Order: sequence, then C-alpha cells, then structure tokens
Amino acid sequence: MTPKRKIQDFSGFSNEDDKAIFNLEKDYGAHHYDRINLVVRHAKGCWLTDENGNKYLDCLAAYSAANPGHHHPAITNAVMDALIGNYASVLSNVVFTDPLGIFLSEVAKFAPQMAPRFGNHGNKALPKNGGVESVETAIKTMRYYGFKQKGIKDGRQEIIVFDKNFHGRTISIVSFSSSKKSKEGFGPLTPGFVSVEFGNLDQVKKALNKNTCGILVEPMQGEGGMIVPPRGFLKGLREIADENDLLLVCDEIQVGMGRTGKKFCFEHENIVPDGVILGKALSGGLVPLSVFITNAKIMDMVFSKGSDGSTFGGYPLACVAGTASLKVFEEEKLAEQAERKGKILKAKIEKIAKKSPHVKEVRGQGLFIGIEVKKGNAMEFCRKLLKLGLIVNDSHGHTIRISPPLIINEEEINFMVRQLEKVLVD
Ligand SMILES: Cc1ncc(COP(=O)(O)O)c(C=O)c1O
Repeated sequence: MTPKRKIQDFSGFSNEDDKAIFNLEKDYGAHHYDRINLVVRHAKGCWLTDENGNKYLDCLAAYSAANPGHHHPAITNAVMDALIGNYASVLSNVVFTDPLGIFLSEVAKFAPQMAPRFGNHGNKALPKNGGVESVETAIKTMRYYGFKQKGIKDGRQEIIVFDKNFHGRTISIVSFSSSKKSKEGFGPLTPGFVSVEFGNLDQVKKALNKNTCGILVEPMQGEGGMIVPPRGFLKGLREIADENDLLLVCDEIQVGMGRTGKKFCFEHENIVPDGVILGKALSGGLVPLSVFITNAKIMDMVFSKGSDGSTFGGYPLACVAGTASLKVFEEEKLAEQAERKGKILKAKIEKIAKKSPHVKEVRGQGLFIGIEVKKGNAMEFCRKLLKLGLIVNDSHGHTIRISPPLIINEEEINFMVRQLEKVLVD
C-alpha cells in the first residue's frame, strides 16, 4: 500500500463510513456491477483516495473517460465558471446556445473529413450523453443511408458487426452482443445485425448481401480482450465499404482521443471512416457527453427536424466541458504522450512477462495494454494488485487491462511496474 495520508488532506462527499456506503448500494441499488470493496472519496490526476487516505493509482481511468486525469484543472474550471456564471443549465431545445455552437464547430473540425468519397463538405456532429446513445445515432445513420440512398426496403437494412464487440447496453446494442449474459431474458431483440469474427475479412465479404448498409467496428477491441486487429483489417474494411457502397463507422468511444497513441485509433492504418463515435474522454470525464460525427452531406441527408433529439444532448454544461477537453487534448498533446509512455510501459511489461510463469501474451497500442494470463484468472491478479495500490480490471476474464490516464508520469509508471512485477513474478 502507498504511504497513508492524514485524513484531513483529502475531501469527500459525506461522513458515511465505507460499510454504510456498501450497504446503501446493496439495499437501494441494482446489483449490475461486480464491484471491488473500495469506496473512492477523492479523485485527482491519476490517483484515487479512500476514507483512510490510502491512495490507489488508477490504471483504468474509467475505461478511457479520465484520459486527461481526474479533475483536470482547465476542464474543472470551465465547468465551474459555467455553473457560477449561470450558463450551464439545460435549456429547452427551441433555443440556441453559444456553448453548443462552439462545441459543435470544434468537435466537427477535430476529426478529419469523414466519408471523403461524398465530397469535401466538412463534418457535422450530433451530440448525446452516454456513448451508447451515439452508437444508436450511428446505426440510425447507416440504416437511413441504406434506405434513402441504396433503396433498401425499410426494415430490411443490415449492419455487419464483430464477435466480442462492446458498444453499450441499450436493447438494440445488446441485441448484437456476443455476451449471453448481456441479453438473455431481455428479448425481443432488435434484428438487422450480422456478427462475424473480428479481424476476418473473408467472413465480412461472405456476410454481404443486397440489404447490407454499413459496418460498425471498434478499431481495437477493449472489452473484447484488448485485441489489436491483424494489420490490413481496417484497410480491408474500407475497401469493402467503398466497393459495396456501405457506411463504415468506427466506434472510438474507448480507443479514440489519444488512448492508443493516435488521436483516432483508425489512424494506425491510415484509413478514414464514414463516421466516428466519440464519448467518455470527450468531456474530460466530468459530465456525460458523446457525439456521432460524419460528413455534412450524410448528416443532412439523414437527420431533419423531428427525426432525432435528446433533452440533455448538447446541453451547455456538457458542451463547455467538451470544448475545454478538446483544447486540453491539443495543448497537452495527449496522443503523443500516450504513444511515448505506452512504448515505455509496454516494454517494461514485456520484460516482466519474460520472467513470469503466469503471462501468456502482452498486447496493445499506446496506453491501452492487455496482459493475458495463462489460466484465465485475470481477476485474481487484479484483486492482488488492489492490495498493492493499483486499480485494474479484467477484460474477458483472461486479460488484465491497463489504461491509466494519459498524463501518467514516469514515477507513476515505475510504481505500476513494480506492483505488476510483484504479482506476476512470484
Ligand atoms: C467501445 C465502446 N462503445 C460504447 C460504449 C458505451 O458507452 P457508455 O457506457 O458511455 O454508454 C463503451 C463503454 O464502455 C465502449 O467501450
């Protein structure tokens, strides 16, 4: 455990002790998460603090939501200014707000020209709250494109997705999940999705038919086990989409915004998709904010007055956080930081792996690294690491996932590596 700090050195929301908090959630909450026994009272940078002042290095960063570190000062100040200045509150969607206009222009320009085969019209963005909502926007876009542009009969549109995908938890999205647990008993499920092996272009080609309108892909699978697709896979998808007039959409909710050492993970293969979904880190982890970005021509073809909407989607507080977070991303060169530090960290983990009787494989890009263990018991290692002051989790049971805030420093990396070595080399 890291050195104890005096209790008055950190703040918390309440004086309820940890046991009381466990019980409150047990008694009044749905039990849909397998939590570890830790109540976090304070989060700053890469560190989380408990009731007794014990500090834990956050090697998960809320699955990439806290990429710039918890409570990044510039983003926190922007949010506080908006609250204190009375321009944060949600407004009826009948009026314009300057936070939304400014955020849309920043985020649309943040991405390269999407779907360049449709012309250089710039990008447009449609904002929502949680990431899954923007995945739904992307699905609507692909389906409508199929209907309107390709003449597919409405209701027959099909989208190709990939085994072990993770795109969120709404009914339509879990309908094409490979995980039985996430959909069993929740039927009727949404039709219109065909799932094929991640990385297998032949299977994608075989799945094509006259009703196919799009391909939805995570350029690297996170929840699926930290899987980097075989080289050429994304390029191949781009070719298939071009040859068959399909929309190719990349879900970069977890792997975008610098996480894998590039601004967007699709850049590893130098492709440009037709649409991209961002969430999580888009607001610096302070408020829910996600977007679907596509070529202006496609956005205008698909969405017209009344065809979509969300009370909080694009509300001022989220937009202020989003604009501040995009600025931090550029100013602090978060993608470059992830690339540089990811190489150092991965090399150190690979060194441990050589000495470890437990490690099967180390994989990943940037600060998105998976350590697959031989016996499929990743969670056992995660629990040991918690006792040593590291917050990590498993991915698909067999892989320890490492995805710290991108601002992690050398000393923190070395701390992480020392603790990993303790549990992986015994
Ligand atoms: C790749 C990917 N897509 C979609 C989602 C869903 O985002 P949210 O939980 O914000 O709805 C996640 C969340 O982990 C994700 O990793």
